[in-house]
Amino acid sequence: MSPDDTPPVDDGSDPRESVRTRVLVIGGGIMGSGIAAQAALAGFPVTVVDVSEELARKGAAQAARALEHAERKGALPEGAREAAVARIDAGIGLRRADGAQIVVEAATERLDLKRQIFREVESIAPPTALLASNTSSLPITSIAEALADPGRLVGIHFFNPVLQMDLVEIIPGFTTRPDITERAHDFARRLGKTVVASRDSPGFVTTRALAVLVNEAAWMLYEGVATKEDIDAAYRLGFHHPMGPFQLVDLVGIDTAVAILDVLWDGFRDSKYRVCPLLRQMVSARQLGRKSGRGFYDYPGARP
Ligand SMILES: NC(=O)c1ccc[n+]([C@@H]2O[C@H](COP(=O)([O-])OP(=O)(O)OC[C@H]3O[C@@H](n4cnc5c(N)ncnc54)[C@H](O)[C@@H]3O)[C@@H](O)[C@H]2O)c1
Repeated sequence: MSPDDTPPVDDGSDPRESVRTRVLVIGGGIMGSGIAAQAALAGFPVTVVDVSEELARKGAAQAARALEHAERKGALPEGAREAAVARIDAGIGLRRADGAQIVVEAATERLDLKRQIFREVESIAPPTALLASNTSSLPITSIAEALADPGRLVGIHFFNPVLQMDLVEIIPGFTTRPDITERAHDFARRLGKTVVASRDSPGFVTTRALAVLVNEAAWMLYEGVATKEDIDAAYRLGFHHPMGPFQLVDLVGIDTAVAILDVLWDGFRDSKYRVCPLLRQMVSARQLGRKSGRGFYDYPGARP
């Protein structure tokens, strides 16, 4: 990319700074690919890494597809897609953190894995690099515990699909330094996102709200208060939600919802986070939602 290319997100700051700031995205799945697309669109050179070359390339290809989709919808200025795609590169191994000024981890939601990733990244990335986790439920302070300097880590929680969702939740851990949190806000602004700030409380703001919404709907179904179709219609038509809670949890994954409720239960020990047994039964039966082909609804075309 030439320094004359103008990034589509104009927040009044010097676009050449983005050109110089390399972003490393760890994990090329649903979220990592979206974050890579968004950062590239804002003018950052981006590297996506995953556990294999193939998965990293898939992540970069998925980022390119997300950009194509945005272009088709008329959401991008002319030439923005090509320029963004050219800024995305795929690789393997955390060695690629060498020289990265911003590292966003979007790997599988496991505390031990995230700790191990950041322990390694800390020893490779420049000491000035911003280290961020996209975790949707794990305590930032617990992930940061693995670092020699836990003050460097902050939570930057993106939403799916990243290019379409305006919101980013920023979560400083108990130990996060204020300058690191400020840099996270600056990065999110450069990506054109609106930020809500949350303390490092279990489930932050959004994940906690989502978990309770879905769990309450499951309890109502379990108790026979109404059918799933009627509960979904009540949320859609009564509250203007774009989809009902069962449609939503089928998208998120019922296993993910249960894991989040368990994090809330562990964090608060409050009975309002008691998982509805129906959700656990569905996980045992591998009825996980869209990704397994069956959840509250059937998805015949989805991969089993
Ligand atoms: N899916 C969502 O709607 C959503 C929304 C917000 C946040 N999140 C969070 O984002 C993170 C990723 O979620 P996702 O839905 O993209 O998952 P995903 O399963 O689609 O992708 C995770 C990727 O991480 C890779 N990975 C695992 N170990 C790795 C390692 N050591 N190094 C590099 N890559 C590794 C996996 O191979 C996989 O490609 C999780 O922390 C999740 O909680 C997800």
